[in-house]
Amino acid sequence: MKKKLAIIGCGGIGTYHLGHFLGFTDIIELAGFCDLIPERAESFVQKAGSGKAYTDYLEMYDEVKPDMVFICIPPYCHGEIEFETIRRGIPFFVEKPLALDLDLARRIRDAAAEKNLITASGFQCRYSKLVPPNMEFCKNNEIIFIDCTRIGGVPGVFWWKDKDLSGGQIVEQTIHQFDIIRYVFGEPEEVCTYGTRGFVKGIPDYNTDDCSVTIVKFKNGTIGTISTGDYAKTGNSFDSKIIFSAADKRAELKILGTFEVFGEKPAEPAPEKEGFVIKGDGALGEATGDSILYREEGDAGILCDRTFIEAVISGDGSKIRSPYSDAFKSVAFTMACNESMATGKPVKVELE
Ligand SMILES: NC(=O)c1ccc[n+]([C@@H]2O[C@H](COP(=O)([O-])OP(=O)(O)OC[C@H]3O[C@@H](n4cnc5c(N)ncnc54)[C@H](O)[C@@H]3O)[C@@H](O)[C@H]2O)c1
Repeated sequence: MKKKLAIIGCGGIGTYHLGHFLGFTDIIELAGFCDLIPERAESFVQKAGSGKAYTDYLEMYDEVKPDMVFICIPPYCHGEIEFETIRRGIPFFVEKPLALDLDLARRIRDAAAEKNLITASGFQCRYSKLVPPNMEFCKNNEIIFIDCTRIGGVPGVFWWKDKDLSGGQIVEQTIHQFDIIRYVFGEPEEVCTYGTRGFVKGIPDYNTDDCSVTIVKFKNGTIGTISTGDYAKTGNSFDSKIIFSAADKRAELKILGTFEVFGEKPAEPAPEKEGFVIKGDGALGEATGDSILYREEGDAGILCDRTFIEAVISGDGSKIRSPYSDAFKSVAFTMACNESMATGKPVKVELE
């Protein structure tokens, strides 16, 4: 018999997952859809061509008895649903950023671990084809500096622009960048973050940071900056990427886009200029060797979702790249930035 899958939260990201599930009906039954807004749950039944719509997840759990659930609710709504899901022993996939209270996320993590439940989180970028070459690059080179930037606009969902509901851009959005840096490179130790407001205008009830810059001290001594802003009106505002810089090479990751390595094919050195500052901006002579470019193919989210579903079916969670316990650490990383921004002081990242 096929395993029964349920979704709680039939909004934007729920729709993304449902699109994947439509291709998995060989192994799962799309059995239950729950949203506080009945039309959203009903529309999922229509799209799935199966299952039943609910506005109360408890009623759905009682009737459908799902074998797994995708929890796709906004950041400020977590807690009760996870504890009830764990109490019933249902393996769950929960969207980032897990929760807006680190202690709550820690209690959910521990309760799920106590029940030995298979869990996963919405860090689909970990399943990108660009991750293996990026990991290789970080393993084979001494990375001294990481420079990460994500500059975008203000998303349309009502809760996003209120930091109390979304956690702010670092926690809600740029957590993907924080997470991928942890995954391909290593763990942070301490952060120091400054934020600014007053540049984004004309959005009613807007109450969050327009831009922030974080300095990260990693456990191995590498230093980095992670900058993020929601002030951009067009893509001309900034070319967002993560740069991993070694003494003789660098790699640039555009998450789910491209990964480019500079310096792997060595340039002919210009002997008379080598080692000297030759430009007004302090840069050394430009390498002329070709870069190596990798391009993303397909949707990493399909593999992310399928990996969790197959783990539940087989009972083996070892291929899940972002279980709750690990995702917790990325939440802790971003929460430390918020704390630093609020207090004006450096903050140790509580990874445990
Ligand atoms: N992994 C990713 O790349 C990615 C992308 C977008 C959003 N997200 C995350 O997904 C989450 C949801 O974002 P969204 O854009 O889909 O939001 P959304 O507002 O579009 O959808 C959330 C839905 O959850 C419903 N909901 C809230 N509480 C509920 C409850 N108790 N029971 C049933 N339904 C409930 C709401 O009615 C709403 O329809 C956020 O945490 C966001 O960070 C992840």
